[in-house]
Amino acid sequence: MKMIDLIAGARPNFMKIAPIIEALKTSDKIRYRLIHTGQHYDRNMSGNFFEELGIPEPDVNLQVGSGTQAEQTAGIMVGYEKVLLKERSALCLVVGDVTSTMACAITAQKLCVPVAHVEGGIRSGDWIMPEEINRLATDAVTNLFFTTSEFANENLRKAGVGTDRIFFVGNTMIDTLIKQLPRLKRPRLCDEAGLVSGQYLVLTLHRPANVDEPEKLRAMLDAIMSGSRLDRVVWPVHPRSRKVLDGLKNVKMDRLILCDPLSYLEFNYLVRDARGVITDSGGITEETTVMGVPCMTMRDTTERPETVQMGTNELVGTDPAKLQPYLDRLLAGEWKKGNIPPFWDGKAAARIVMVLEQWLVDRASAVGCPTLP
Ligand code: UD1
Repeated sequence: MKMIDLIAGARPNFMKIAPIIEALKTSDKIRYRLIHTGQHYDRNMSGNFFEELGIPEPDVNLQVGSGTQAEQTAGIMVGYEKVLLKERSALCLVVGDVTSTMACAITAQKLCVPVAHVEGGIRSGDWIMPEEINRLATDAVTNLFFTTSEFANENLRKAGVGTDRIFFVGNTMIDTLIKQLPRLKRPRLCDEAGLVSGQYLVLTLHRPANVDEPEKLRAMLDAIMSGSRLDRVVWPVHPRSRKVLDGLKNVKMDRLILCDPLSYLEFNYLVRDARGVITDSGGITEETTVMGVPCMTMRDTTERPETVQMGTNELVGTDPAKLQPYLDRLLAGEWKKGNIPPFWDGKAAARIVMVLEQWLVDRASAVGCPTLP
């Protein structure tokens, strides 16, 4: 049996890795070692997700914790290198675009451990986002690309990646959503705040470009609150945003409901029943597309154009003044219906494991650096 490393570090990684672990349970060719980098460490940013999604205890926790981009990257690289030097794996599988993804991919490839990137090839073109740098750096050292969209395939082909290394498998985040839809859990706050299904909005904001500058955050909140008329707005606040929000005076709070980050099952319950979602997340635009919930993205770019072209997402931009017409359309009940992108069918992880089994066992000698183009 070949041993591979599965890397999970931050909240959006956990739902992407869970179905891969599930699919690997039935493999007689591959066993795995689960590495948690500790980039996210709070119960409500990490622990809850392991419990709800049935992810086993990590084999290794690098416990990197908070820090600047460079501090986290360096801490993860040093920690993961030690793990690999102690016991080398046949492949390092990373998911998504967080700092842990990039740091582990580089560390593995430098030790000639091949890298597979789940959600490879997506690009926003916006180098202000740390995630875009992570995507570029990760894909530069990736051997096997598991992609979620034809846009990603095209980006990779344009970058000169051979089609024999690109596997259009679908979306493991959606595997998790489809599996968990029947188990979604009504959060307590629905009753506490008297929320009426279809008559409230869900808000998430945590991108440095939106939340790090207090006055920008205030302008964004003002636009959201005035544009949403009578609807309540529920915001599970990410720790990064909380620090800035706590320092803001005179935010209009009458219809704004703040809470701590919710668990996966509670958050998606809230989203499924909402009139719409306002967000600067990427992953949430995929989930709303699958659940058919209207979504407004407060960013100028997206690395997931399929959620706009096919799904229920609209790219509003970062200028709060641009939000009003979108909210008007939502409140008038005139939002587009949208379709589900190809292969977002709950079977992506099974496809990934099939490819890995073939690549690791039948094709690759997992010793020595595989030749990159
Ligand atoms: C990270 C990811 C981003 C993802 C987001 C989702 C990168 C570059 N960014 O951003 O792609 O969308 O996670 O959550 O990897 N903190 C806590 N408790 C925690 C985790 C973090 O208090 O459990 C605090 C940290 O101390 C830090 C802030 O939250 O001050 C931000 O955390 P960090 O890991 O730097 O990046 P995110 O903004 O969460």
